[in-house]
Amino acid sequence: MERQAMRPTARPVSVLAPEHRSRRRRLASIRLLLVSAALLLWSGAAYAQQSRCADCHFANPNAPGGDHLSRWQRSPHGEANVGCERCHGGDPTTFERFQAHASMPRGRQSLVSDENVPQTCGRCHIGEFVAFQDSRHSELLRARDKRVPTCITCHDPVAGNRPTPKNLERECARCHGSGKSAEREGRASEARVLLTAVRETRASLDQARRLIQRVKDPQSREPWEEARFQAEVPLVQAGHAGHSFAFGRVRERLGIARRLVTALLERLATPPPATEHRSVGPSMTQE
Ligand code: HEC
Ligand code: HEC
Ligand code: HEC
Ligand code: HEC
Ligand code: HEC
Repeated sequence: MERQAMRPTARPVSVLAPEHRSRRRRLASIRLLLVSAALLLWSGAAYAQQSRCADCHFANPNAPGGDHLSRWQRSPHGEANVGCERCHGGDPTTFERFQAHASMPRGRQSLVSDENVPQTCGRCHIGEFVAFQDSRHSELLRARDKRVPTCITCHDPVAGNRPTPKNLERECARCHGSGKSAEREGRASEARVLLTAVRETRASLDQARRLIQRVKDPQSREPWEEARFQAEVPLVQAGHAGHSFAFGRVRERLGIARRLVTALLERLATPPPATEHRSVGPSMTQE
């Protein structure tokens, strides 16, 4: 797996051929979930060594970056050693400025230009990227229409933050609402409502995880872990669907996730009969 070979090109590519999309979508999104998890683990291990880009930019007052730098350092990206070169390109192994920048695309070719940023982030966040490609926003962006949100409209360019429901609504409302460039009043508030529900479901899932951790015997714990995973998959899928702005699918996936996590919490709250210690795990039925 050679990461350099995966450098994005200006034209976004679709992972699945259109005619296979809907049929394979369900399976593909689960597979993507696993692939992106593997890639994230891989990138963490391979980049354990700090990149030189950051060292010089921090030390050199003429090197630009501003508060981008301190935000990066404190962020999940900084903590996971996602170095400057992972989003900008260039050679992170040298302390010589020209050599470091020689292979870093600039200007319109820049990997962080509006058109390229989804693909740059998408090298690691595959599920969100593939979903975003399916949206009207992405279609317009590829037609070089700048009136649409990209990854860094909602996320800080470098920090890997998650927008709050309020901030999300505010973002959407910049363009959607009466008198705005794209009208459709309801979209902004609907996005807030759905994100709030996503967060509540994630909180319930975290609560379930904490309860499951209390089950000490690994063999009894395993079916609970499995049931938690079954509930997490549709929740992640809801997050991906959100990146296509497909509200119907978000609601559908979220509904499944909620049902599963509610059932799981109920079973966790019911103490197992003392005689059946070995079979305390939940039943494996999906819905
Ligand atoms: C030895 C110091 C040094 C190193 C190493 C270095 N930079 Fe820079 N960088 C600078 C300075 C100084 C500037 C401003 C002058 C310039 O644009 O060349 C700059 C400019 C930049 C810019 C702005 C470019 C633009 O077109 O406005 C980016 C982005 C950047 N560097 C990223 C990186 C990345 C990514 C790496 C590692 C692959 C890196 N730098 C390594 C010192 C450095
Ligand atoms: C997670 C991705 C990511 C990482 C990591 C990252 N940047 Fe950036 N950077 C961006 C994005 C996206 C922009 C464009 C922001 C915008 O258009 O508002 C940007 C903009 C910049 C700029 C402004 C000039 C330009 O090319 O647009 C500089 C300089 C810069 N980054 C330097 C750095 C340095 C130095 C590091 C390492 C400490 C770094 N970046 C790490 C994503 C990243
Ligand atoms: C219109 C706003 C918006 C845009 C555009 C957007 N995101 Fe998101 N992103 C969100 C929201 C909202 C969440 C969910 C936050 C939460 O679950 O609390 C999120 C979550 C994420 C997560 C965390 C997923 C998880 O659950 O671990 C990643 C990674 C991510 N986005 C990457 C991207 C990438 C890459 C792009 C561009 C292809 C992008 N986002 C574009 C709003 C946006
Ligand atoms: C080289 C791989 C890589 C690139 C490129 C990258 N990220 Fe990340 N991102 C990571 C890793 C690793 C983490 C930390 C682990 C995690 O939380 O999933 C992370 C975390 C995040 C999170 C927080 C997820 C959470 O669970 O809270 C968001 C949001 C995010 N990134 C968005 C972006 C955006 C937007 C871009 C492009 C500007 C980008 N990332 C570029 C690897 C990358
Ligand atoms: C920078 C401007 C901008 C922002 C910010 C923005 N949009 Fe859009 N959006 C557009 C434009 C332009 C269109 C295309 C015209 C239309 O359908 O109204 C569009 C279209 C859409 C569509 C129609 C998709 C389709 O397939 O027909 C949805 C849904 C949507 N936006 C939801 C959102 C949500 C939710 C947010 C906030 C998370 C958001 N948008 C933020 C500009 C924006």
